[in-house]
Amino acid sequence: MSAPLGIIAGTGFAELPGFKRRELRPVDTRWGEPSAPLQVGRLGDREVLFLARHGIPHHIPPHRVNYRANIQALVDAGVGDVLAIAAVGGIASFAPPAAVVIPDQVIDYSWGRASTFFEDDLDTVTHIDFTLPFDDRVRDNIVWAARAAGIEFHDGGVYGCTQGPRLETAAEIRRLSRDGCDLVGMTAMPEAALAREAGLAYASVNVVANWAAGLGSHEITMDEIHAALKAGMGQVERLLDAFTD
Ligand code: HPA
Repeated sequence: MSAPLGIIAGTGFAELPGFKRRELRPVDTRWGEPSAPLQVGRLGDREVLFLARHGIPHHIPPHRVNYRANIQALVDAGVGDVLAIAAVGGIASFAPPAAVVIPDQVIDYSWGRASTFFEDDLDTVTHIDFTLPFDDRVRDNIVWAARAAGIEFHDGGVYGCTQGPRLETAAEIRRLSRDGCDLVGMTAMPEAALAREAGLAYASVNVVANWAAGLGSHEITMDEIHAALKAGMGQVERLLDAFTD
């Protein structure tokens, strides 16, 4: 039997459509408690451990998520591959609201987060390779599933991770754009790096919730974000169906 699939999902994805939950498993780790109990069950043909990144109900802001505990909880539960789902703002023209993007790079602008497993009680200093922040094989499987599901999506994109919880200024988004960011979100880091440190094969699917600050025709509202996520969620649902088939 293959290792269970870990799914970490955030804003707009408190429920996984089609997920048949058998158990709500509270866990503790050497880094503290994860955002929520692990939801153990099946999605399609796969055994899945689902973790709500912002807690149940959604109450933990991005800079307060205990990313180390979340990743450790999945490791301790025997997960191998991790599929992360996250809402983002769109910067590139290929990322309008409700678009699905499978990113391939990250620039980290977050700060002050516990971002490594390798800092205390070390025998040796460890530097993980992070040239490609997302696992190639899992990423390829996600792209394959998106194609098989027949959804519209964009393959590739640079995710800029900001600190939040506030949204960015228009000037900050112009800077991210000059830096080469196509998407802006608040949670890919340190999540992706910790997964790599822990030996998990981690890749991500992003749903665009809004044009990033200054790029749309008006201020960003939570109503607009929820409407776009609802539309994008239908696409992700089809992708997940194909991914776990
Ligand atoms: N910025 C950062 N994170 C986000 C955004 C945004 O505009 N939209 C959804 N998550």
